[in-house]
Amino acid sequence: MILLVGAVLLLPSTAHASGARISSGFALSSRDVTAMIQPLPKSVQERILADTEGFFQLVARALDERPDFFLLVDKAHALPPDYVPPDLVSPADYSLSVSRRDVTLRKAIMDAAVQMSRAATADGVTLLFSSGYRSYEDQQSVYRREVETYGQAAADRESAHPGYSQHQLGTAVDFGSITDAFAATRAGKWLALHAEEYGFSLSYPDGFESVTGYRHESWHYRYITRAGTRLQKEYFGDIQQYMLEFLHANRKMLEEKRRSH
Ligand code: DAL
Ligand code: ZN
Repeated sequence: MILLVGAVLLLPSTAHASGARISSGFALSSRDVTAMIQPLPKSVQERILADTEGFFQLVARALDERPDFFLLVDKAHALPPDYVPPDLVSPADYSLSVSRRDVTLRKAIMDAAVQMSRAATADGVTLLFSSGYRSYEDQQSVYRREVETYGQAAADRESAHPGYSQHQLGTAVDFGSITDAFAATRAGKWLALHAEEYGFSLSYPDGFESVTGYRHESWHYRYITRAGTRLQKEYFGDIQQYMLEFLHANRKMLEEKRRSH
C-alpha cells in the first residue's frame, strides 16, 4: 500500500522499518528510490511505487540493452558535432519503402524495422521511411530552412538545432508525409497502435510540448527497444521523455547498485 501524505509520497512503512526489499535486482533503499523518482510527475511516481519490483525488473532489462538506444538528446542535451553512428545502412537494401535512396539508419535497429514493416504490410499498410539519420550538417540545413520558411519561433517548435536532434543518433525515423496529415493516414494510425510492439516510440506526443520541447509530431518515432517501450508505457505514462530523463539521471547509480545477475 502507498501512503499519500499531502504531496509527499512514502513507501510502505514496513519497507522502512524492516528493510524490506524495494527491488530484488538492485541494492536500493527507499530513500534512494524516493530521490530518483522525485523529479517525475506525481502520477508517474505513484505508478512506480505501486509496483517497485516490476518497475526495477523492467529497468534491469532496459539496462541490458545498448546504452546509446537510451541517450537523452533533447533541447538541453546535445550530441558532439562529429558524432556519427558506427553502423549506418540503407533501409532500401532491406526491402523497406523509402522516399529517397539516401535515407540511412543504424543496422542495430534494422531487425526491428523490418519486422515492423512486414507486420504493417500484412495488415495492408505501407510504412514509408522518409527520413532517418541526419548528420550535424544536415540538421543545420534543415533548421535553417525551417527558420527561413516559418520564422524562428515556429521553427523551434518543430526542428532541433544542429547537435540536438534525435535524428543524429540514426535510430529516429520520420514516416510518410512528415506533416500533420500523417496522423489520420492508415500508416499513422497503424504506427500509433503497433510501433511500441517493435520497440519504436513516438517522441513528441500530442499535449506534451511543455515536456518534450516540440509540438506533436505524429510521424517521428525513435527506436528504444521493446524493454524501453514497455517501461515507458507501463510506468512513465507512455511518455518517452520522462523515461529517458530518468535513465539519464540515474543510470550510473543503477549500474552501481545492481546486484550481480
Ligand atoms: N523534428 C525533430 C524535433 C528534429 O528536428 O529532430
Ligand atoms: Zn523527425
